[in-house]
Amino acid sequence: MTVTPLGIPHRMLEFTIDGEEARVPEGSTILDACRAAGKDIPTLCEGDTLRPKNACRVCVVEVEGARTLVPACSRKAEAGMEVRTDTERARHSRKVVLELLASSVDLSTTPRVAEWLKEYEAKPDRFGPDAARLNEGPKIDNDLYVRDYDKCILCYKCVDACGDQ
Ligand code: FES
Repeated sequence: MTVTPLGIPHRMLEFTIDGEEARVPEGSTILDACRAAGKDIPTLCEGDTLRPKNACRVCVVEVEGARTLVPACSRKAEAGMEVRTDTERARHSRKVVLELLASSVDLSTTPRVAEWLKEYEAKPDRFGPDAARLNEGPKIDNDLYVRDYDKCILCYKCVDACGDQ
């Protein structure tokens, strides 16, 4: 048991990430733990002030005993978990997600995506050039609200910002 800066006790959870011991406060996500351990997990729909939307699935990791890959951004860490972040299955899944996205929208202004496309050796052009582009101009409602669906990565951050927040 440790205490928060306000003196509130919270339980620490112990589990492993890629075979190494990890320790995070109860309530942390797998992504929180991975970041604390210095792991670079790609994310697109996750944000500090947002509720996880589980929309992009580019953050998936393997958890021992789980049938499917799990989204690190929303799955809470549990004591005794064995998390693997860099398996062939997780890497392949991230690669396909990035390829599908890059084949259908313009990612040139999406932070870090170029780096991840390279890291995962994604080949979006295997679906054909600009496979599913809308080729529409941006919709400009006013100076603050511009929607360019050719760049929409379906992260739901605009929905969160304009609606929930
Ligand atoms: S960042 Fe986890 S599902 Fe998008």
